Amino acid sequence: MSKIILTGIKPTGMPHLGNYIGAIQPALELTADSSVESYLFVADYHSLTTVQKAQDLSEMIYQVSAAWLACGLDPEKTIIYRQSDIPELFELNWILSCMTPKGLMNRGHSYKALVQANQQAGRKNLDSGINMGVYNYPILMSADILLFSADEVPVSEDQAQHLEITRDIALKFNHVFKTDLLKPPGTLVKTQLLPGLDGEKMSKSKNNHVPLFCSSKELKKIIMKIKTDSSAPSEPKNPEKSILFSMYKAFASKGNIEKLKQRYQQGIGWGEVKELLYVCLEDHLLEKRKVYESLMMDQKRIDAILNEGAKKAREKAKPLMQKIRRTIGIS
Ligand code: TRP
Repeated sequence: MSKIILTGIKPTGMPHLGNYIGAIQPALELTADSSVESYLFVADYHSLTTVQKAQDLSEMIYQVSAAWLACGLDPEKTIIYRQSDIPELFELNWILSCMTPKGLMNRGHSYKALVQANQQAGRKNLDSGINMGVYNYPILMSADILLFSADEVPVSEDQAQHLEITRDIALKFNHVFKTDLLKPPGTLVKTQLLPGLDGEKMSKSKNNHVPLFCSSKELKKIIMKIKTDSSAPSEPKNPEKSILFSMYKAFASKGNIEKLKQRYQQGIGWGEVKELLYVCLEDHLLEKRKVYESLMMDQKRIDAILNEGAKKAREKAKPLMQKIRRTIGIS
């Protein structure tokens, strides 16, 4: 039996360079191994916890799908689908929620962070503005993973708790029904972090991100605006303390990284570093951007790919779902 790799992407808009380095590229590398079976889905119903404008959600689903396809995801090899196209997931979601102790959800990081924010804002109602989707989020994520018996789930560190919860829920189900139908997922693949424009982790919510696909002109503008210190071009510079260098390192070849490192040590003007970074990014993204743009112009093609993926995914999911139903006494 081949190893099963599965990951989900919450559509929250056009991916940025941090998503590319931290999620898209490593996941595509894993799926390139011909011996693995791989699934990648757009977690559109997970987005509904926060994105509650129909047109926005619909557009974001296309953006995310087009971005993964443009970066090289091969739909013949990897099953790519919308979460919302797999009704079995929502059936399993309910079954799992009946296996999940409420206390486990009380401890969820994202839920707790929102409660804490209410506390800090001095609100009397600590659940103010928190919907049940946010609270139950980890259960739906467990269903996403367990329905396809994933062995490995490449996600970033902030999702580690959700994988723990998935394991707990799987074991609870197996224990209650004296079965081993649900496979607790294994390793969390730690992925590389890319600093944002301010040196913090790149994230959309911090507004320090560089969109993966914008025009060359816009990309150049964003890079030219990155803050640097006031050292003169001739002064030696420490590459380890430079955001520009960290970004360059994530995209350039080993040889070019080494060359730039030496230039830092000899002294190089920030303007020149920015130009090198821009050229390097542009080189890396140009072809992908063209594919992205052509897909976004032809959303029917994206739909066709996602529909085809959903068909394949459901075929994979149905037998396990049937066994689960029988196991719990519903047939
Ligand atoms: N929660 C993940 C995120 O915010 C997205 C996600 C949903 C996911 N379901 C998943 C990731 C299943 C991996 C497996 O990034």
